[in-house]
Amino acid sequence: MPPTVRADDAWLTDPVESGPSAGFGVYLHVPFCHHRCGYCDFATAAVGDQAPDDAHALFERYTAALIADLRRQVAAGPRAHAPAGADIAPSWPRATSVFLGGGTPTLLPPPTLARILSAVRDELDVATDVEITVECNPETASEELFGTLADQGVTRLSMGVQSFAPHVLATLERGHTADTPLAAAELARACGIPAISLDLIYGTPGESEADWRDTLERAIAAGVEHLSAYALTIHANTPFGRRVGQGALASPDDDVQADRFDLARELLSGAGFEHYEVSNFALGSAHRSRHNLLYWRHGDYLGLGVGAHAHLAGRRWWSTRSTERYLEAVEAAEVTPPRASTGGAARAGADGAAPAAAGGPTPALADGPTPISGSEVLDATERAEERLLLGLRVREGLHPADVPPLEPLALEEVMDLGLIETACGRLRCTDRGWFLLDSAVDRLLV
Ligand SMILES: C[S@@+](CC[C@H](N)C(=O)[O-])C[C@H]1O[C@@H](n2cnc3c(N)ncnc32)[C@H](O)[C@@H]1O
Ligand code: SF4
Repeated sequence: MPPTVRADDAWLTDPVESGPSAGFGVYLHVPFCHHRCGYCDFATAAVGDQAPDDAHALFERYTAALIADLRRQVAAGPRAHAPAGADIAPSWPRATSVFLGGGTPTLLPPPTLARILSAVRDELDVATDVEITVECNPETASEELFGTLADQGVTRLSMGVQSFAPHVLATLERGHTADTPLAAAELARACGIPAISLDLIYGTPGESEADWRDTLERAIAAGVEHLSAYALTIHANTPFGRRVGQGALASPDDDVQADRFDLARELLSGAGFEHYEVSNFALGSAHRSRHNLLYWRHGDYLGLGVGAHAHLAGRRWWSTRSTERYLEAVEAAEVTPPRASTGGAARAGADGAAPAAAGGPTPALADGPTPISGSEVLDATERAEERLLLGLRVREGLHPADVPPLEPLALEEVMDLGLIETACGRLRCTDRGWFLLDSAVDRLLV
């Protein structure tokens, strides 16, 4: 049975920490990497084999498209993207976070990255204390890169390290040595980037407990403000997925990964890191990732670029994962005169839902070529499920006013199982519950 939606649906319409109260973010995606790591299923393609001039031309073409896409989606206004009838202001909220991710954004020349970040400031109202994160591969580090990012007001650099064990790096097909990330982090700091986060992966086949312990100790010694520690996930559509399927690569062992997770918690909390989300650790609350918190708090964000997702007031929309189709659609839209916006009433289907709820572009952008390849409007039950799944990932869980209606018996059951607890009215996962979040939420939403 779906949760009973309260008559006063304040959890959805007037949340304290979730939804619009969580801020407003902008995600921009760069779908290129020098080499595509065998485990990765992000929307990205290898350009390492291309002639430098060809790669450069592709980067410039993509940047022009990304900025044009930003302008077009922003110009349509929030009401054109929101579900019909949503109570939405006519202008975009002030952006509290910007995230330039990938792929490897730092493959783009520094002046190109600067153009992208300037375009965000030109198109949107950006908070003076905005968090701006750029993802970076260690081997792309340079003084020019970090100096440009610092000049552009970048507040966080998020760098993929994965491991400090050379044989694990080799298994993961990383193109850098164990020392490269440390030198890159030092250079970034010297160039004025205020905060650095390192991504680590545990449970790689062949990784020993000593390898993981050493990786954590070296990451702590690097003196960074934030660490993400991800269990290696095998995606069927990747080279790793195929090798595991053929028996050529061992599948990560669940028990081993659980032990690695415990070791990360122990060593990182001993070093002063706050374990604030399932996979994330910050040296104090000020260094949590504001942009990712926005996702976990069910907030609103624009998503620009190949494969990027956006969310506004219960409508989600996303762009094609094909770079070629993305470029063609944005370029065609640029030469197609915009038609008058169709407005909320015209967009509503017979059942009051927007016609694109089953897929297709958001209505505002449906009248011509668009890189947006799908959208959906979440009903109250789906939003309740999402609110719980995302909100329970964060250490302190959900504010009492933001908790969707729950069946008391279901809540009692997950509490008896030790998966969920309440503290001062907040609903949050126990340490055990973090690992079993999907099943806890399934039980809560019976
Ligand atoms: C979008 S990637 C960008 C990072 C950057 N391109 C790099 O690799 O240095 C963000 C992070 O996701 C993590 N990641 C990607 N695929 C993963 C997988 N299959 N399992 C676990 N973590 C993964 C890695 O830690 C990676 O650094
Ligand atoms: S992990 Fe990073 S470098 Fe490797 S393919 Fe994914 S995005 Fe590219």
